[in-house]
Amino acid sequence: MSSSFIERARSVLAANDRGGYTVPTDRLYPFQWNWDSAFVAMGFATFDIDRALSELEALARGQWADGMIPQIIFHKPAETYFPGPDVWRTSHTIPTSGITQPPVFALALEFIAARAGAEFTPRIAALYRAGLAYHRWWEKARDPEGRGIVAVLHNWETGRDNSPEWDEPFARVPQTTTTTIVRRDLGHVDAAMRPRDEDYRRYIHLVDLYASLGWDAMAMWRETPFKVADIGINAILGASEEALGRLAKRFGSEAERAEIASRRARLAKGLAGLWNERIGLYASRDLISGKAMDVRVSAGFLPLLTEHCPPEARQSMQQRLDGLLKANTLPVPSTLVGEPGFEPKRYWRGPVWAVVNYLIARGFARQGMGEQAREVDEATLGAIREVGFCEYFDPLTREGLGGGTFSWTAAIALLISEDRMALAA
Ligand code: GLC
Repeated sequence: MSSSFIERARSVLAANDRGGYTVPTDRLYPFQWNWDSAFVAMGFATFDIDRALSELEALARGQWADGMIPQIIFHKPAETYFPGPDVWRTSHTIPTSGITQPPVFALALEFIAARAGAEFTPRIAALYRAGLAYHRWWEKARDPEGRGIVAVLHNWETGRDNSPEWDEPFARVPQTTTTTIVRRDLGHVDAAMRPRDEDYRRYIHLVDLYASLGWDAMAMWRETPFKVADIGINAILGASEEALGRLAKRFGSEAERAEIASRRARLAKGLAGLWNERIGLYASRDLISGKAMDVRVSAGFLPLLTEHCPPEARQSMQQRLDGLLKANTLPVPSTLVGEPGFEPKRYWRGPVWAVVNYLIARGFARQGMGEQAREVDEATLGAIREVGFCEYFDPLTREGLGGGTFSWTAAIALLISEDRMALAA
């Protein structure tokens, strides 16, 4: 891997560094985002453990008393983003949004811990406690009825904002808002690539509702018109519980290890129920209608990351990947080509995202499918090298789309490059 490529990836992180935490990209996303920072921390860990830990510590400073790590932490004010703290109206001391995002935190912590020297142990131990509190929050606030799968109460929590999976559950959410909507995003990128106005009104309707409930987790659970078991989050949480369990061997108590093991077992069972025979892939479920979603999305591959992934599921995913490669499609489109909701340039309705690809590749590797893992990694790295550290990529034309200097895309470039160098060594 050429050193200039690695230098460029590092310089994207340096440019987006705001002193101890990293913004996803300048202007469009001027604060700290939860899952972006978890990937960024792993990227930093390829060359700077101290800085990698600071990234997670900055996330932990935003953690709520009940354990939730928010989607956005507004460390410093900025005028280029909507909705800001005045819309969220939460009460944490550093202003934050009131929802969360995919829990990559413990995966990142384990990744860093595996390469950190003894001098970092106290910092890692403290972050382990933050991860434990976060996972307890998921169980208590988002699976209070004990289904073994956790729910999201806002599409922004999924990190896959406008995936066609959310179309049906959103049809139930009114478009009325008490907040005036300002589409600051459209000043930075092309409207054809972003969620539509009517979608945005529904997103803000939910924010208004939860703010009116004082962000009380149980009240939100009762009152929400949007309650979805997102396949991405459930799979990532499953993998993260496994990582936390391994960290607990070094940093936790016997009782904590038992607690984590029992959550892990329940999630594995829950995930088994999200296999969707009709589409031959794992899928999200609408917990209000009880319906499984028949939409094939890249996140449907993520249970590969977990202990629960039986042979028929593995085989089906392998065939899907082969199909994409044969059709010369850049793997893995966020919504698979051929789905009714597929749009190659609109955000999570088709474009390829490096972070999801990275997790899918790790999933294939975990299942002993090294060749598939390599194919996905090569495709991701090839796209980044060709068009840059873009937010996302058109799976048909391979064009780079959205913002152009994205931290998490740079982080993934560093991670895959490091893996390749290790293989070559
Ligand atoms: C968008 C993405 C989300 C990401 C955020 C910051 O909202 O959908 O996944 O975390 O931007 O990059």
